[in-house]
Amino acid sequence: MDALARPVVPPAPKAHARPVGPLRLIWGMSTNPLTVWSEQDYEVLVQRNRVLGRENWLVNDPAWARHVMLDAMPRYRRPLASARPVRPVTGDGVLLAEGEAWRGQRRMLAPLFRPAQVGLLLPHFQAAAQALAGRLAQAPTANLSAAFHEGTIDAVLRALFSLPDNGRRAAIARLARGYVARAGRPNIFDGYARTHEDFPFAQASRRRFQTVWQGAVDALVAERRTAPAAAVHRDLLDLLLAARDAETGAPLTDAEVRDQAATLLFAGFETTSRLLFWTSYLLALDPVEQARLRAEVRAFPPDHVGALEDLQNWPRLRMVLLEALRLYPPVIFLLREAAEPDEIDGLPVSPGALVWMSPWVIHRHRRFWERPGAFVPDRFAGQASPWSGGQPFMPFGLGPRICIGASFALAEAQVMLANLLARFEFGLTSARPVLPVGAVTTRPDHEPLFRLDRA
Ligand code: HEM
Repeated sequence: MDALARPVVPPAPKAHARPVGPLRLIWGMSTNPLTVWSEQDYEVLVQRNRVLGRENWLVNDPAWARHVMLDAMPRYRRPLASARPVRPVTGDGVLLAEGEAWRGQRRMLAPLFRPAQVGLLLPHFQAAAQALAGRLAQAPTANLSAAFHEGTIDAVLRALFSLPDNGRRAAIARLARGYVARAGRPNIFDGYARTHEDFPFAQASRRRFQTVWQGAVDALVAERRTAPAAAVHRDLLDLLLAARDAETGAPLTDAEVRDQAATLLFAGFETTSRLLFWTSYLLALDPVEQARLRAEVRAFPPDHVGALEDLQNWPRLRMVLLEALRLYPPVIFLLREAAEPDEIDGLPVSPGALVWMSPWVIHRHRRFWERPGAFVPDRFAGQASPWSGGQPFMPFGLGPRICIGASFALAEAQVMLANLLARFEFGLTSARPVLPVGAVTTRPDHEPLFRLDRA
């Protein structure tokens, strides 16, 4: 690819001329769901199909996506197949809770993610970013995919637990990364199970992980409970321990604190690390854009950041991150199962039907975007939070269950990237295109080596 041809059109699986057959669809869904789409999928607004006898919907129209995720929310739930691999990590935390339990948890967690609180976490993001930059300075090339995995898990562990002990941070990071790479990957039995307990042999390694994982998080919570109370809230764990239900005034139990902390850790690191990877890849393909960002960061160096408002000094960096979220959304499906009959676009939805809303397809939809495959950060000029306005842009989901950590993730990503841009010029050591694979999150098909030159 000619890196200087602008706008850059970064690599993506090619759309099929015609819809693929059921076998190809099933194979693609289990290997790389980004390879199953046809031209038609990027054109239609709503589509109903039967796959192996099961009713499936592809909903691209933001208005109908809003219907499923907001107006008719009680008629839909998260399917068991997508919850099974996640539950060993998050337990009964907010990510998988449903109904009244979810409402209570979300109400309690919302204050932790208000801008003022996210602002208090900036020193943790700075510390993680500087540690990452220091590690990267030790060699002229780096596997940034792995480096961002480490960097974001470090950031979220600092923000959650202020963990001073490097060794313990590394041990928890190893556990989480190991789970995502192995036992936590969805498997064929998840698709056929009717409960979390079905096919116990397929759940055995997940249960073993759960015991170790919960023990590690429990130990951190117990230590904080016995530590002298801090004068100020240092991290999210302090806030979780201080949280009270608005209606009953009750605090969280130890198990609830553990499950919420584990949920935030899990939901936060992998997604943000993918965002950082794809943004860096786009900037390596587009050195002109990269140089513009560096100039912006030099005009307001990262060590000047003291409050969340300071991040507004990097408007171009934010536009680039939004465009990376559009082109390579870390979460490629918002999936729901109809629990009751409903109607979409005048057609009946049967109980048990699966409704797929794919940020990947919607973000590259021919009717919604001009030059959908091109990297054009300017399309987000002047839009700070375009995911909240009913647009065909939903990297964080939509409706009441929209990602609670969106501003946390963007603040962290801005601080991380600004620190790296200030120190390094990054390019690629090979011209081999990096293709996205839809797995737990949108990962690269291989981990390219980046050249890191002193800027
Ligand atoms: C670029 C980074 C991120 C992306 C793209 C992302 C994406 C998403 C998406 C798409 C959902 C909705 C899933 C659905 O409805 O099926 C979600 C939910 C959630 N996210 Fe994020 N996320 C990111 C970062 C974070 C961070 C940093 C945290 C916490 C520190 C977090 C915590 C959560 C939680 C707790 C939920 C569940 C909310 C609920 O169900 O009420 N996320 N995220």
